[in-house]
Amino acid sequence: MNGTAELIIDGKSLELPTIVGTEGEVGIDIGKLRSTTGAITIDPAYGNTGSCKSAITFIDGEKGILQYRGYNIAELAQKSTFIETAYLLIYGELPTASELSEFSELLTENQMLHQDMLQHFDAFPPKAHPMSILSAMIHASSAYPSQKTYRKSLKEAFPIHAARLISQTRTIATSSYRKAAGLPPSYPRRNLKFTENFLHMMFSLPGEDYELNADVVRALDLIFLLHADHEQNCSTSTVRMVASSQANVFASASAGVCALWGPLHGGANQAVLEMLEEINKDGDDGTKFLDQVKNKVGNRRLMGFGHRVYKSFDPRAVIIKEQCDKVLAQLHKSDPLLDIAKKLEEIALHDDYFISRKLYPNVDFYSGIIMRAIGIPTNMFTVLFAIGRMPGWVANYKEVMDDTESRISRPRQIYTGSTLRSYKSMAERV
Ligand code: CMC
Repeated sequence: MNGTAELIIDGKSLELPTIVGTEGEVGIDIGKLRSTTGAITIDPAYGNTGSCKSAITFIDGEKGILQYRGYNIAELAQKSTFIETAYLLIYGELPTASELSEFSELLTENQMLHQDMLQHFDAFPPKAHPMSILSAMIHASSAYPSQKTYRKSLKEAFPIHAARLISQTRTIATSSYRKAAGLPPSYPRRNLKFTENFLHMMFSLPGEDYELNADVVRALDLIFLLHADHEQNCSTSTVRMVASSQANVFASASAGVCALWGPLHGGANQAVLEMLEEINKDGDDGTKFLDQVKNKVGNRRLMGFGHRVYKSFDPRAVIIKEQCDKVLAQLHKSDPLLDIAKKLEEIALHDDYFISRKLYPNVDFYSGIIMRAIGIPTNMFTVLFAIGRMPGWVANYKEVMDDTESRISRPRQIYTGSTLRSYKSMAERV
């Protein structure tokens, strides 16, 4: 039931309505705070601020719960696929058989890039990071409207735009990898499913098809599914922020890719691998490195540990760790980096520095080891995160567009700069 909260400013009391979500979280509605009192709230990094109401994903970070549209992530991981989950996130319900086949058909129809877009790849230097290519190419996509959406409004064109984004992100990702590796372009095959096609487009060589392994396909599909949404994280909030100006979905998603790239967010999977490689190169088993982290030497962090929201465990990390052991066993691979990762985890989980700060392994701690075992180069890890996250961004974009009360996002600030002063001539500036 909705109630009220009382705020007292300079002795004056203000009654604020509260909003209670379907899972019982309480928000204090301060929508009228500034107009009635002149004050604003300040919450840098938004740790206590709800930026929207959303019906897509629920997280209880204290209990380690993650649900997409009411379905527990562990159940989806066991029973669903990335594409079915993408539909669920975007359209709100698990698809019927015909809805799923229609959705898959739309993805297939929209998986090819406009031929003219291929020339953009040539303009990037050979060592360009694939995340910079991905954001630029997704943005460029909006300049190539398909015939079917040409005269449609953003809303009418949404299903096609959504399908293009999900499908073409994969095509752009694999194309950028092949360009960097000096391989000829490869094209998706109609008879392959989404994740199979990703592996085929990455690794097939002229005259030599990549041999699909069901366990590898399943592991990668699971990685995509586990990354598919995560409520108001940095990149999704960015997508919603851009969408609030009524920018198109390509521009909004491209902004999401940029936000994801940073090592504190999606870039952490690449940073984890680089950290493990560095520890291995140093001949350390992780002990020396952890001492440096705890003593904040060079502000080092144990990458793949900690989360703004999860304060007991990250349910995605539990699923992915199990999958990591499975994939390595099935591929008959041992990896010294996995041994280091396990050692780091074991020490950190029993160390007061990490326990007192509630730092636990997050999804990125083990996903990189699986991707490495499959043969994905390290600089592509965050790109795979972006492929996985695209349905979540698209779902959040749709939610903003469908919200008849949505207004442009425009936070305020507390100004701390100089007060009014007069312009100084050059001679006066000493
Ligand atoms: N290693 C060592 N210390 C850490 C770590 C870490 N990974 N994360 C946080 N801390 C310490 C931090 O130094 C601070 O200590 P103190 O109180 O002594 O100053 C305390 O814990 C609180 O840290 P914070 O920076 O205020 O926490 P935050 O909620 O702002 O940051 C985080 C969350 C995920 C950015 C952070 O935990 C981190 O940098 N982790 C490593 C990067 C990483 O793995 N990111 C992926 C997140 S999961 C994928 C995704 O969804 O994006």
